[in-house]
Amino acid sequence: MEMFVKLVVLTFVIGLGTVQALPECGVLDERLLHNTYTTTYPNEYPWVGLLMNQGQGGRLTHTRCNVIIIHELHVLTTATCVRKFQKQQRNAAVLLGIRNESHTPENEYVCNEKGFCVPGPVLFQLADIKINPLADKDTGDNDLAILKLTESINYTPYIQPICLQGDTEPDSLTGRNLPFSGFDHSNYLRGKGKAFIVSRQHCNTLTSSKTPWPQNQFCGFPPKTTRFYEATALMGINVVKDVPENFYLVAILAKMYLSGGVTTMIYQDLRPWRDWIKENINSS
Ligand SMILES: *[C@@H]1O[C@H](CO)[C@@H](O)[C@H](O)[C@H]1NC(C)=O
Repeated sequence: MEMFVKLVVLTFVIGLGTVQALPECGVLDERLLHNTYTTTYPNEYPWVGLLMNQGQGGRLTHTRCNVIIIHELHVLTTATCVRKFQKQQRNAAVLLGIRNESHTPENEYVCNEKGFCVPGPVLFQLADIKINPLADKDTGDNDLAILKLTESINYTPYIQPICLQGDTEPDSLTGRNLPFSGFDHSNYLRGKGKAFIVSRQHCNTLTSSKTPWPQNQFCGFPPKTTRFYEATALMGINVVKDVPENFYLVAILAKMYLSGGVTTMIYQDLRPWRDWIKENINSS
């Protein structure tokens, strides 16, 4: 039986590797882009992983925070998610190649009801936590942190990085419906959806915030009230010769605001911080 499972996995992995050469980052399958599912396939948005608490003896519990792979040694999350780990980074770890939150690194393979199997999640330890120097606890602005891993990621179809930038990008995101993906509070499976981005002025009136609107945050409306975890990835699509080529990271979810049945996603804009992110990746 075990041999059979291994063969199935092997055939599948080799199959994908030869049929579809993976791009360097932001792998995109147009067939999955326009479906209306609220959960993802194992190889869909494979840069979304989870930040875990790591207790005595390596016991893992959930932090309810996503991490996003941007490089073989680095993932992104919010500053809010990692502040408590800053002095003891050993108490945090990252799970990648995960699609069902109830799976653990002990699951060598995970199979669905049709007997289709993929490798289980892989655990990574942290070498460093870098919180954005302008992360502001009061306004919540610049809620961003870079986590460095102790070991390089071996990419597979289920563990892939997203691009940090598009070849060409629109000046404004207002009025666009952008895809997002992350784990959420409603379901074990990695979720997805599209958020309609509105102007900052409009957003400010809806959240009835008394403080000035954080300069580097904007908001969008998802179709459902599902509460996604922090650091859910908001993505742009790089289009080359009229064909969607790959995904690039635009923002990560800082918080969600629910009022009168309306859900607002408040996103931390990463575009002003791309140079800071690249400098940190290159200097290590
Ligand atoms: C997630 O994994 C758990 C434990 O293996 C399983 O019981 C559950 O059915 C899975 N959920 C889905 C939707 O596949």
